[in-house]
Amino acid sequence: MKINYIMEREEEKELVRAVVKISRYTIYIALIAAACIAILVISLFNNGTGAVVVSSAKENASVSPVATSSAPAASAGGTSRAIPADAWKAPDESTIPAGKAGDMIRYGKELLANTARYLGPQGTVAQITNGMNCQNCHLAGGTKLFANDYAGFMVSYPKVSSRSGKKESPSERIAECFERSLSGKVPDTSKKEIQSILAYMKWLGKGVKKGQKLFGNATEKLPFMDHAADPVKGKAVFVAKCQSCHGSNGEGMPAADKKTYTYPPLWGKHSYNDGAGMYRLTNFAGFVKNNMPFGASYQNPQLTDEEAWNVAAFVNSQPRPHKNQRNDWKDIRNKPLDFPFGPYADAFGEKQHKYGPFKPIKDAQKQLINKKS
Ligand code: HEC
Ligand code: HEC
Repeated sequence: MKINYIMEREEEKELVRAVVKISRYTIYIALIAAACIAILVISLFNNGTGAVVVSSAKENASVSPVATSSAPAASAGGTSRAIPADAWKAPDESTIPAGKAGDMIRYGKELLANTARYLGPQGTVAQITNGMNCQNCHLAGGTKLFANDYAGFMVSYPKVSSRSGKKESPSERIAECFERSLSGKVPDTSKKEIQSILAYMKWLGKGVKKGQKLFGNATEKLPFMDHAADPVKGKAVFVAKCQSCHGSNGEGMPAADKKTYTYPPLWGKHSYNDGAGMYRLTNFAGFVKNNMPFGASYQNPQLTDEEAWNVAAFVNSQPRPHKNQRNDWKDIRNKPLDFPFGPYADAFGEKQHKYGPFKPIKDAQKQLINKKS
């Protein structure tokens, strides 16, 4: 009896030990699983939407911009892309010198960022531009790659303009963006404003050598599609991904001060005119591919190439100020392939030069150049 009793006690103890062991393992496994889930969540966040936080740098944003989590990089950009480590970087702002020279550089930077405040329709210095800022297209003060950065600008000028055939100074080149992109008047280039803008651009590009190849200069040249870009499909892209900020009529969103824009217009009378670089499809498509919706980047594009081409076609088929460009081109053979106003040296019409397909035009232009030489 007694032995039996002891044996039963032993069995009971064994059972209790086993139960304790099992529950200990269960806790271990639960802990490991929790850690795995945490790691997964963190890495998903970093690769996907986490990087597309719309910059809070828009100081006077009166509405919170729409975060664009719906189109992960994988579907938009194909493979994920990286900026090489040796790509150009803007010098650190702390290296702007003190004193008068530094003040000019800082004023130049301020003018590019807030052009309308000084030179817009209600500008405090002059009223010669449409209300947009240079920075609307030359992002982050012209420091962002694939966003028309100014890195190589000053060292490459004076330069012969393929449009006029004349040698142009840097201030003449800037004046063109005033007349076309800001649909305004030629500024007085001897004044402090233009001189300050030039001082800033010079400081910005101080490390760049003449002729140096720059990664991410201007905008990306997207591969040509084998068909024309489609404004109707582009409208659907616009409605889904652009109009929340740029307005249902592309009119932009004025800031609370009614003098500047929180979101700049894409068409209409306050937008760039049809002589501007953005009016050309390759520039527009390349720009929006890596920069729009605002917060997108080369590393994290939000549009497929096709969406970028189509939305470019839609926006640039809407009304905007017109600039007479009849006498712009000294030699029409130099017109870029997406220049939408004839006459042309090749046999393609205005419509194909505006919307593509561009490859046949490119091939024809190559032949013309071969004939020339
Ligand atoms: C609507 C968009 C837009 C705005 C606004 C704009 N630009 Fe531009 N700018 C461009 C594009 C696109 C290019 C390059 C393509 C082209 O025109 O051939 C360019 C080119 C330039 C270049 C030549 C860069 C180089 O390396 O050759 C300079 C300098 C420049 N812009 C200065 C300015 C200044 C200064 C302002 C404001 C007064 C301004 N831009 C406003 C779109 C814009
Ligand atoms: C979250 C808000 C937001 C969305 C969505 C957005 N943009 Fe923009 N866009 C901006 C802001 C802000 C700027 C000006 C950037 C600056 O000044 O730093 C800008 C500038 C531009 C410019 C150059 C300036 C101009 O007005 O011509 C173009 C072109 C443009 N966006 C096109 C698009 C297109 C096309 C889409 C949709 C695919 C889009 N944007 C979606 C906020 C947005």
